[in-house]
Amino acid sequence: MSFHVLITDPLHEEGLVPLKNHPDIKLTIINQRRSSNLKELIRDVDALIVRSQTQVTRDVLEHATRLKIIGRAGVGVDNIDLDAATERGIIVVNAPNGNTNSAAEHTMALLMSLARKIPQAYQALKNMDWDRKNYVGVELRNKTLGVIGLGRIGAEVAYRAKGQRMEIIAYDPFLTQEKAEKLGVNFGTLDEVLALSDFITIHTPLLNETKHLINTKAFQKMKKGVQIINCARGGIIDEEALYQAIISKKVTGAALDVFENEPFHHHKLLELPEVIATPHLGASTIEAQEMVAIDVSQDIIRYLMGEQIKNP
Ligand code: NAD
Ligand code: MLT
Repeated sequence: MSFHVLITDPLHEEGLVPLKNHPDIKLTIINQRRSSNLKELIRDVDALIVRSQTQVTRDVLEHATRLKIIGRAGVGVDNIDLDAATERGIIVVNAPNGNTNSAAEHTMALLMSLARKIPQAYQALKNMDWDRKNYVGVELRNKTLGVIGLGRIGAEVAYRAKGQRMEIIAYDPFLTQEKAEKLGVNFGTLDEVLALSDFITIHTPLLNETKHLINTKAFQKMKKGVQIINCARGGIIDEEALYQAIISKKVTGAALDVFENEPFHHHKLLELPEVIATPHLGASTIEAQEMVAIDVSQDIIRYLMGEQIKNP
């Protein structure tokens, strides 16, 4: 029996090898950015592999008459309509572990860049402007880092930030006292984390409950001068509320890897000197891409061959 697997976002070559070499798998790879005929292509495929770019909507899934499994090479499955997939008996697997380290390292890079205004100073120097006065930063030592969402990445960030001698306070509705103690972090309510932190970093999934979790009211509860990092998902921070909080000087810095609408060619937050940003690069390392690609393609093969999958 032969199975048709469609890949619509760039996947590391190492993840393609087991699929390409499998005698019972026919592989089609397209660049979804350039191709608009996903509804047509999905019609006769048994498995679909995506990263975050392909939007697997209800509308798309209505055309998927043979689809059995969707593999997400990464963590967030917010680009896949899970209800629509479940209604059709299509299972969704992700690769939750392969990019944890890379996303945590990227968060630390953003935190340190923010504290020392490195991107802004670099940009000035590239413009041949030797300016030391405008780029005075703050130390991380003895500052409080609020971690919202202490899962895989949040915990790795907390561990690293302790190495910078920061105090950590975390909010996570599923956090146990045991885990907090093991990580050496303080437990807080969301309001306590907002009120006590000098820096806040977000590591929750994008869910109905976390959509605009950081909104105007949340900014009002924060310390004046707070700096905020989002390397999780656009949409968890209300971008208009963040803009206003920066204009009013409540927030003095924001580091964003993710945005409500990606990709974009213009964003008004990026006009503000207090905002530094990367284009969703948290998981963009050779190591992470290799691991998530291998994990997801192995699970797709296992499922199609009737074996037990690892990450349902
Ligand atoms: P995870 O599931 O291990 O951790 C998420 C944590 O958030 C869990 O501990 C959960 O209990 C907690 N949580 C859920 N609802 C919450 C709420 N309302 N308030 C506070 N905490 C809540 O996930 P992870 O692997 O650590 O990934 C975290 C986020 O990072 C996800 O949004 C993921 O998509 C994103 N991510 C982004 C990149 C990137 O390239 N920027 C890379 C990897 C992951
Ligand atoms: C993820 O959720 O895994 C990240 O956003 C990285 C990606 O989109 O591949």
